Parts: sequence; C-alpha cells; structure tokens
Amino acid sequence: MRQKTASGIPGLDNVLFGGFPQGSTTIVEGGPGTGKTTFGIQFLLEGIRKQNEHGIFITFEEFPEQIYEDMKIFNWDLRKLEQENKLRVIGLSPEILIDQMVKPDGLFEEMIKEIDCKRIVIDSISLLKYVNGNERKVLYTLRNVLRKHGLTSILIQEQSAFMSGTVSVEHFVFDGYVRLAMKKRFRTLRKRTIEVLKMRGTRIAEGEHHYRILDYGLYVQKRSLISRLMQSLV
Ligand SMILES: Nc1ncnc2c1ncn2[C@@H]1O[C@H](COP(=O)(O)OP(=O)(O)OP(=O)(O)O)[C@@H](O)[C@H]1O
Ligand SMILES: [Mg+2]
Repeated sequence: MRQKTASGIPGLDNVLFGGFPQGSTTIVEGGPGTGKTTFGIQFLLEGIRKQNEHGIFITFEEFPEQIYEDMKIFNWDLRKLEQENKLRVIGLSPEILIDQMVKPDGLFEEMIKEIDCKRIVIDSISLLKYVNGNERKVLYTLRNVLRKHGLTSILIQEQSAFMSGTVSVEHFVFDGYVRLAMKKRFRTLRKRTIEVLKMRGTRIAEGEHHYRILDYGLYVQKRSLISRLMQSLV
C-alpha cells in the first residue's frame, strides 16, 4: 500500500484511513468562507512542524501579505517559517505558473529544489483552468508536473451556486476530491459538512461528516457508519 501523508486536520485522517496517499493530487472544493485556504495552510503546517516536509502555497488572487494577515487569527506565524526556508507563499498569475512549470529548469523546479518542497497548495485552480483556453490540457499538465516532482498537492477550487452537484473534468483528472459545504439546518442554523468523494489508493469513510472551524483551524468529526446510514434514510 502507498504511504500516507498526514493531513494536519484533526479527524480527517480517520475519514481517509491514515491520510492522503503520498504524492497524490487532491481537489478541495467549497463555497465562500468554507475554510479552503485554512485547510491548505493547515496541511502545509503539518508537514513543516511534524513531518519535516517543507511546503509552497501559491495564490493567484491575494497578495502573500493578505494570507499572512488572515492566518494570524489562528496564531500561525507564516512569515517566520518563510524566513526559516520551510515555507514559501507566492503570489503570481496562472499564466506565469503554467509557463514556468513546463519549462525545464524553470522557476517552478528551482523553487521546489530550493526549499526541498514536498507539499504544495494552489489557491485556486478556478482561474488556472482558463489559461490558453484548453482546460483539459492545462489540468493534465498541472497534474503531471506535480506528480513528476512527487508533491502531495491540494488544489483549491471555488464552488459557485450554479456548480453545485455538477461533475467537471477536474474531478476525473486528479486523484482526490474533497467537498466542503455549509448546509441549512432548520430555519436559521447552519452546519458545515465535509465529504471525500474520491481518493485513489485509499479506503474512505463515505458520506458527509461534520467539521468546525475553531481557534486552531479545521476540526473534522468522523460520523459513525450507523449515523451516516440513518441520515441517508431521512
Ligand atoms: N475560531 C473560529 N470560529 C469560527 N469561524 C472561524 C474561526 N476562525 C475563523 N473563522 C472563519 O473561518 C473562515 C475561514 O476562511 P477561509 O479564508 O479559510 O475560507 P475560504 O473558503 O478560503 O474563503 P474564500 O472563499 O473567501 O477564499 C472565515 O470565514 C472565518 O471567519
Ligand atoms: Mg480562500
């Protein structure tokens, strides 16, 4: 069996029976404020702090300074980890990323070697898909480059209301597909749910589990099989 990579999110490794398969590429999809960016950073911090695996966070929509600021709410000092060469938070355009990824000895490869990177997060692939107008080609290029370097990868995808429940090409291309959602419960209450729809190379605890965002980040409560079966009946 393939080795597992701890996700860093308490409870999620129970759903994944040990974590993400090493070197796998996973889409983490969710609506606004579902905690996608937090998920990604938490995954990188696990690598840096506990597994001695350095990480890169690539953002297309925010400046790195914004990420540093937003993540202070969880008491995460990302700037310090950057100074120690354990983390890189990089803001660039999707076009430049793809361009540098396909170039032999391009900036992407250089960056990975420079900090001996093992984990990567791209926030988000929603824009990247439209580079060169060939969605399928870009996604396969991305997946193949990530695999070539053996990086365990989280690819964030924004989910808009009209996309809800639809299946797109990226769900087939990558190894894993995790969906975060905020669901209505009674009139005013909401509950956050996480579902692993696929993860090649590992068993998964199927169905929706609950998660919360706490002062230290995301926390998943794996639901028992009985509880998931009961819910599917109502
Ligand atoms: N201790 C906490 N308890 C509850 N919610 C929290 C706590 N700390 C942060 N949050 C909320 O968690 C959310 C985390 O946001 P994050 O940026 O990770 O989501 P996102 O899915 O990336 O959002 P976006 O779609 O805007 O990029 C924020 O809406 C924040 O208000
Ligand atoms: Mg975000």
